[in-house]
Amino acid sequence: MPQVMSDNIESHLVENRIFNPPAEFSAKATIGSMEAYRELYDSSIADPEAFWAGIAAELSWQKKWDTVLEWNCPFAKWFVGGEVNVSENCVDRHLAKRGDKVAILWEGEPGDKRTLTYRQLYEETCKFANALKANGIKAGDRVIIYMPMVPEAAIAMLGCARIGAVHSVVFGGFSAESIKDRLHDSGAVAVITADGGWRRGSIVPLKESVNKALEGDTQVQRVITLKRTANDVTMVDGRDVWWHDEVAKVDSNCPPQAFDSEHPLFILYTSGSTGKPKGILHTSGGYLTGAYATSKYVFDLRDDDIYWCAADVGWITGHSYIVYGPLANGATVLMYEGAPNHPGLDRFWQIIEEYKVTILYTAPTAIRAFIKWGDEHVEKYDLSSLRLLGTVGEPINPEAWMWYHEKIGSGKCPIVDTWWQTETGGIMITPLPGATPTKPGTATLPFFGIDAAVVDEQGEEVRANEGGKLVIRKPWPSMLRTIYGDEQRYIDTYWKEYGNMYLAGDGARRDELGYFWIVGRLDDVLNVSGHRLGTAEVERALVSHHSVAEAAVVGRPDEIKGQGVVAFVTLKEGFESTDALNKELRAHVGEMIGAIAKPDEIRFAAALPKTRSGKIMRRLLKEICAGGAVSGDTTTLEDFNVIAALQGKGDDE
Ligand code: WTA
Repeated sequence: MPQVMSDNIESHLVENRIFNPPAEFSAKATIGSMEAYRELYDSSIADPEAFWAGIAAELSWQKKWDTVLEWNCPFAKWFVGGEVNVSENCVDRHLAKRGDKVAILWEGEPGDKRTLTYRQLYEETCKFANALKANGIKAGDRVIIYMPMVPEAAIAMLGCARIGAVHSVVFGGFSAESIKDRLHDSGAVAVITADGGWRRGSIVPLKESVNKALEGDTQVQRVITLKRTANDVTMVDGRDVWWHDEVAKVDSNCPPQAFDSEHPLFILYTSGSTGKPKGILHTSGGYLTGAYATSKYVFDLRDDDIYWCAADVGWITGHSYIVYGPLANGATVLMYEGAPNHPGLDRFWQIIEEYKVTILYTAPTAIRAFIKWGDEHVEKYDLSSLRLLGTVGEPINPEAWMWYHEKIGSGKCPIVDTWWQTETGGIMITPLPGATPTKPGTATLPFFGIDAAVVDEQGEEVRANEGGKLVIRKPWPSMLRTIYGDEQRYIDTYWKEYGNMYLAGDGARRDELGYFWIVGRLDDVLNVSGHRLGTAEVERALVSHHSVAEAAVVGRPDEIKGQGVVAFVTLKEGFESTDALNKELRAHVGEMIGAIAKPDEIRFAAALPKTRSGKIMRRLLKEICAGGAVSGDTTTLEDFNVIAALQGKGDDE
């Protein structure tokens, strides 16, 4: 039975299988039963400030806060008056007890390996922080980080945090144009990059993209480049320096400076429903507290764990669950540079066997790809070191969940399906592995201190199994503080609809156990391979091509990627819809945004379906993509012939 609330909030999933945490897992877990979860959850919701203050007190503060929370909705300040250094909490704090413990275990795509203990990570962080200072970078300055998945990516982030510079990591798969947009929006004065990174056996020329992004740019004073792939790069005199030269000039004495708890830590750009990505701003004390607490409880971290989050540091998952969260907990983090299918389709399983990985955190889209590649690649390896599995990024389909459970977890590892967002900074809805019975496809219950609900248009909580909008009703420490440089957009996007509740932008329902089932985005944001992509961004890229008059981009279901991108394009007079132009437009989107945004299909059309007021009716286009038939309300449609032509496919393609 589908549960329907309105046109776009619909859930067809009915899943009754329940998996209890294995008794031996619960016996050792920090939260080992539902009673323990409920007790702590209830008290954390009755008094969130007391709960979060208790967590924050486990961290190192240079000055304790005066007030836990100042909430002038929608503006939050956490641990007001407190002073903290985030990098101190991720490295210095562990030196006494865990100085020789491995912090980062790294494997490059070509098979090269490195290990950094907490002491080494501390020294590298201090040196790099001193190098930043020597290059004129100071607290409050924005710095773009555009790097491959090497330990220096984490060192660059921690180095910025140490001196109070605000980093903005740009995913290495994004194009020069995307870097340029982010440089301008953030007003960054420096860029940290590498000559290149390895991906599927080829060099991704990162420095070259940075050079292109900086053409005609004046505000960037310094580019620090790490030598990774040793390809030829162009260095601009007076602007560009090498990482190894700069750290050779400084020592590792760099006492952690104290920063206000609300000092900005980073900006991370993410897609919204307009063409311009949003710069999500996170600050220091609250973000750290959230990343620390969720890593501790959701991954149930123990001192002997080998923890592997297979995301890229360019996404929020990499920020919170490769760098800040696990390092604040003193964990051993495995980092892998390259693709899961290089040189063979078994690379992940080979890594797990070799390093005896105990916790694996990855995305449903990756799991679906593994299923497609075949079980034989998994079965060659001993994966018995694994004790916990996690997923993030999109709703996981029950088939993928079951495969993950049986093939990767041998039926013995709990799966934590974690719902959260760039904006939330940390995990919000999730099972706790020693406590929560799981069902394939649901992120289950809210984390401590998180007051999540599903509400209707009026903001009233809906009944069990009714669809609605997912909201968070109380502030939490790792929440975004604003959209960088655009406070009005922050208010409009997240708070305007209900006034006093954070609107996540996802549709959801709760079942009779109170478990949250996330249905997907309600806005014009697609989820392609677990990555957020605004349809408007792709449209903006398409119409920037000289041949395109108008473009409408929609998602269609895709077996591996979750959603695929379909673009409907009308051409200007004098242009013909040829295969060559089709290819050119796809390449153009790749150049404007990055390869992940390239449409899977471009459909040329004589016209797009519009309402009488001129709004493109995406719902109709979606229906055409999903199966062809157009149902529902078409009374506002301006010209019925347009739909007929699009469905007929013939003439317009
Ligand atoms: C989706 C990624 C269902 C959701 C951390 C959200 C999920 C968006 C899940 C945020 C999950 C993330 N189940 N949907 N476990 N995790 N999502 O900002 O639509 O890249 O709003 O953050 O991904 O994507 P973002």
